[in-house]
Amino acid sequence: MKLQLEELRTKALAEIAEADSSQRIEELRIQFLGRKGAITSILRSVSQASAEDRPALGKAANLLKVELNDAIEARAAEFKVQERAGTARRDRPDISLPGRRPPTGHLHVITQVTEEIIDIFSELGFQVATGPEVETEYYNFDSLNTPADHPARDLHDTFFVKPGVVLRTHTSPVQMRVMEKTKPPVAVVVPGKVYRVDADATHSPMFFQIEGLLVDEGVSFADLKGTLMHFIHRLFGKDVQMRFRPHFFPFTEPSAELDILWTSTAPDGSTQSRWMEILGCGMVHPAVFKHAGYDYEKYTGFAFGLGVDRIAMVRHRISSITYLYENDVRFLEQF
Ligand code: PHE
Repeated sequence: MKLQLEELRTKALAEIAEADSSQRIEELRIQFLGRKGAITSILRSVSQASAEDRPALGKAANLLKVELNDAIEARAAEFKVQERAGTARRDRPDISLPGRRPPTGHLHVITQVTEEIIDIFSELGFQVATGPEVETEYYNFDSLNTPADHPARDLHDTFFVKPGVVLRTHTSPVQMRVMEKTKPPVAVVVPGKVYRVDADATHSPMFFQIEGLLVDEGVSFADLKGTLMHFIHRLFGKDVQMRFRPHFFPFTEPSAELDILWTSTAPDGSTQSRWMEILGCGMVHPAVFKHAGYDYEKYTGFAFGLGVDRIAMVRHRISSITYLYENDVRFLEQF
């Protein structure tokens, strides 16, 4: 019996040591310690031993039971640790995979062009000013030498908010707001939204302008022309084709418009070239200075109003202004 216990011990410890999985350890636990296991049957047979051998045998069998149980527990714990490490290894992120990049937005093409234009005028010493989009008729028209019965007032196709209050039809009212607060010399650019009852391929009911105003002693039309030509060359390059055309504005005299040769590419790939008016300009009318409280004998100045949308269209060969406001990401992504 003693020998039997010794053999069982050797065999069991060897098998426990060789076990290669937690499943195998579970099998061994059943095989040796289970209800029908080897130790159990030995313990049962102890009762058949002689009375003098019985205590020692019982003790030895119980000790073996404890020893095997400890050995099995120890191995089971080892496998548990290994398996947990294995799971962790499987679930670890693979840092060699290329990342998934969320789509990033960028500035709208109108904003990009606005910033470019302002940069060019900033270099020349112009400051940025702003004014309200909901404007009084006084600032939008009267102060700019455009009285109620003036024909130019109909041409603007104004959105009225209430009597005497309009959505500004141009950024020119900010000329007056700036002059009321500042003594000459003045050099400002004014970016902003303007509104007119108008809609086709080159007109949108809301669009963007940048106003320019420079007032000092001895400012001439040559300064206006030189400044604008410098600006156009900076923005479009020296090869751009442009032309000044005489025009009329109530708030400038003389006045002109500037056209640029615009080649556009339609979605079907076809191209088309024509002159596009991108700004109005002129020498500030003495009547405007009078409203501003400026001495029109002493000061002269020039002003201009750029159409940002149209400049963006010429710049990027866009065939219709509506693309700028539809917010089709496939279109906007190109800039
Ligand atoms: N305000 C004019 C327009 O919107 C443009 C302009 C501005 C003309 C300044 C002359 C001087 O059409």
